[in-house]
Amino acid sequence: MRIIVTGGAGFIGSNLILRLYEQHPDWEIFNLDKLTYASDHSHLKSIKDSGRYYFKKVDLVNRDEVKDVVKTFKPQGVFHLAAESHVDNSIQGPEPFIQSNIVGTFNILEQCRLLWKEDEDDWKNNRFLHVSTDEVYGELEGDGFFNEETPYAPNSPYSASKAGSDFIIRSYYQTYGMNVVTTNCSNNYGPHQHDEKLIPVVIRNAIQHNEIPVYGRGENVRDWLFVHNHCDALDVAFQTGKAGETYVIGGNNEWKNIELVRKICDILNEEVGKGPDGDYKNLITFVEDRLGHDFRYAIDASKIKEELGWEASQDFDGMLRQTILWYVNTYNSM
Ligand SMILES: NC(=O)c1ccc[n+]([C@@H]2O[C@H](COP(=O)([O-])OP(=O)(O)OC[C@H]3O[C@@H](n4cnc5c(N)ncnc54)[C@H](O)[C@@H]3O)[C@@H](O)[C@H]2O)c1
Repeated sequence: MRIIVTGGAGFIGSNLILRLYEQHPDWEIFNLDKLTYASDHSHLKSIKDSGRYYFKKVDLVNRDEVKDVVKTFKPQGVFHLAAESHVDNSIQGPEPFIQSNIVGTFNILEQCRLLWKEDEDDWKNNRFLHVSTDEVYGELEGDGFFNEETPYAPNSPYSASKAGSDFIIRSYYQTYGMNVVTTNCSNNYGPHQHDEKLIPVVIRNAIQHNEIPVYGRGENVRDWLFVHNHCDALDVAFQTGKAGETYVIGGNNEWKNIELVRKICDILNEEVGKGPDGDYKNLITFVEDRLGHDFRYAIDASKIKEELGWEASQDFDGMLRQTILWYVNTYNSM
């Protein structure tokens, strides 16, 4: 199988490539990534010279570059993850989000359609998996969960650009009958995440004895999904999901931001030694809330569980501890 992963030098993409590479010894994997500030290709150095991993620095917004790789490599499947992904950046400057997330999605999807429609078997068998976010559904105010039927209500330029890309994917199934699957997942955590995101921000500031910024009063709720669990769900959706379907993916693991930050501090107190004044929690500082900050996201992942047999692992303490130790080692060795 020849597989393209877009955004494979990013957080989820690099974890995904390492897992797919191990779990599918017969797959050749081509990583297309623009290498933005959020990427780190060194996470893939262990497979770089393996002979079945390829990389090209490509901006998906550049149609000719995308066309060139698709025509030459002739992928039989795509995991599409490339995107501008940081909500705060989308508030400061939305344009790259519109370009990469909407135009970029269109370019890779369209080039695959043009290639695959040339052969009936390719058209039937080759699959395009689009990786999206639960943020397209807006926010939950009270109880309740997002599922595949939840109406779209994106609130930030980031989530609106992802929603736009989801609709393009949907239209390729409705209009052309293309073999696409979309997944919408909750917040991921794990190794390789850029240190602008909440969990790395907390760990880095804590071990450097800087203030740990928490938006508002830290009451916002997120459903945390371990990145390796997510990658397994993507593999399952790619291999066994039904064409044209959407699957929401969550960790069944809701935490208020402030509870999560305190939990990280407690683990750091145990693993790294006491923080300043005997407790890393003393560094927590509330800062002005993010504009349009969605209050709660939570996922009901029963469809992917019942139809495809995937379920998130519930060992949050173990996986969070493993994650924290990875960042502590990484930051200490810089
Ligand atoms: N991280 C999460 O918690 C989360 C949650 C839900 C959905 N997602 C989605 O998962 C995907 C991956 O997220 P992530 O956290 O790994 O993001 P990330 O920012 O860590 O990585 C994104 C990667 O895409 C690449 N990229 C960006 N624009 C590109 C372009 N125009 N052409 C080619 N490459 C480009 C970047 O260089 C980077 O390597 C995104 O589509 C995101 O919307 C992420």
